[in-house]
Amino acid sequence: MKNLLFVVSVYFLLSPIAYAADIDNGRTLHAENCLACHTTDKYTSKLRKVHDLAALTRRVKRCDFSLGTQWFDDDIADVVTYLNKDFYQFK
Ligand code: HEC
Repeated sequence: MKNLLFVVSVYFLLSPIAYAADIDNGRTLHAENCLACHTTDKYTSKLRKVHDLAALTRRVKRCDFSLGTQWFDDDIADVVTYLNKDFYQFK
């Protein structure tokens, strides 16, 4: 499972053309579903726990899962891309 996530993240990193993430979709989904428990301050806080793209993907999946939003993989990827671009900025 870990390996799969790694492969998926590398895929997103290396294939900006094959997979063009929809950041606006990610931003909208995030605003509608994710701000109930933590604000975006959490993503830039010194205490944040996510330190790479794979962990960010895992965390988004976990919050999606515990919320029961049942996003499609593309939606997860859009939210990860949005969070990474606006907050985490992992390479
Ligand atoms: C029911 C409450 C709740 C909702 C709603 C929620 N989260 Fe979370 N989220 C948490 C908790 C709890 C943590 C972990 C806090 C900690 O360990 O510091 C967390 C942590 C995170 C982190 C890691 C922050 C860091 O430390 O770098 C990310 C990213 C994240 N959530 C994304 C999302 C996304 C995307 C959504 C919308 C699907 C979402 N969250 C909705 C409860 C929630």
